[in-house]
Amino acid sequence: MKIQAAITAVGGFVPETVLTNFDLEKMVDTTDEWIRTRTGIVERHILKEQGKASSDMAAKAVLGMLEKRGISPLEIDVIVLGTVTGDYIFPATANVLADKIGAKNAWGFDVSAACSGFLFSLETASRFIQSGAYKKIVVVGVDKMSAITDYSDRNTCIIFGDGAGCVLLEPNEEGLGIVDSILKVDGSGREWLYQPAGGSMNPPTEETVRNKQHYVHQEGKTVFKFAVTNMADVSYAIMQRNGLTADTVNWLVPHQANLRIIDATAERMGLDKSKVLVNIQHYGNTTSGTLPLCLFDFEKQFKKGDNMILSTFGGGFTWGSIYLKWAYDPS
Ligand code: UT7
Repeated sequence: MKIQAAITAVGGFVPETVLTNFDLEKMVDTTDEWIRTRTGIVERHILKEQGKASSDMAAKAVLGMLEKRGISPLEIDVIVLGTVTGDYIFPATANVLADKIGAKNAWGFDVSAACSGFLFSLETASRFIQSGAYKKIVVVGVDKMSAITDYSDRNTCIIFGDGAGCVLLEPNEEGLGIVDSILKVDGSGREWLYQPAGGSMNPPTEETVRNKQHYVHQEGKTVFKFAVTNMADVSYAIMQRNGLTADTVNWLVPHQANLRIIDATAERMGLDKSKVLVNIQHYGNTTSGTLPLCLFDFEKQFKKGDNMILSTFGGGFTWGSIYLKWAYDPS
């Protein structure tokens, strides 16, 4: 039987400090009521400690996962890490992470796909496993969004939070693991959701700092429209292509950007709410962290053979869906 890449363990970490909607009421002109009803978010976690970055959250998530599975960091072959808030412009955060967890036999790299960072990383790593060249790949989704969030801008600061999640990918020859994927990019959407300065287009200057161009800039309404349509369409398309129905899909694992986008996707797929994983109320939008944090939070409910669809939409624009068969029973 052909080799498929299966998720065989999951990990997650969010920082201790909680920023509630009521805290935000004191910082910008907003209300708990508005945030809850327009987004579904109640609180988010923020990495406050000086000198701590995305790699530190990722390290906690990965070390917790390896410990749970009884695997040494020395056994990891590759680290593929999705983020838009890497510790540095370079080197890659996968590099820093390998050092912090003692993964001395691994190589790795970062994937920049905004909110689709984890999904694109998972697809990439899955192909490495299928090739037969690698046996244990750690796939991470992590973002310290508080590092690029303007806490005087109510359009963005209410949405984002910090967090990390990860999975271990291993070969499976029983027909379990990643079955199919549809991934998309449309660069013409880049100016609706992006960080304007800091890269080679607008290198950092006193002026870029003064103009707040190192923060996330989002035209929320426009992004919302594209997100609703594209995330729903791609999720439905992968169901159709694989002969799945609302009855045979066990779980939808959606990007957690806005509860209304999640609801629209579930509705398009005809899914009952009980099959849709939602933890946006606790974490907000952790960008690359949302999908693996969902897998981590709901792991105990999954059973071997469950049909699962992972879907995202994010800056770039980037979006897509992965269909997988869950590979293990809850312990
Ligand atoms: O994860 C990557 C992809 N990102 C997304 O998927 C995010 C997509 N966008 C969204 O989730 C939503 O667009 C937001 C949550 C960002 C905004 O919600 P919205 O329903 O699209 O609000 P809006 O921008 O259309 O604004 C509606 C009203 C406006 O007032 P007027 O012009 O109707 O008087 C805004 O000024 O709500 C006002 N408003 C707020 N009021 C209280 C905007 N933000 C706030 C706020 N608190 N934080």
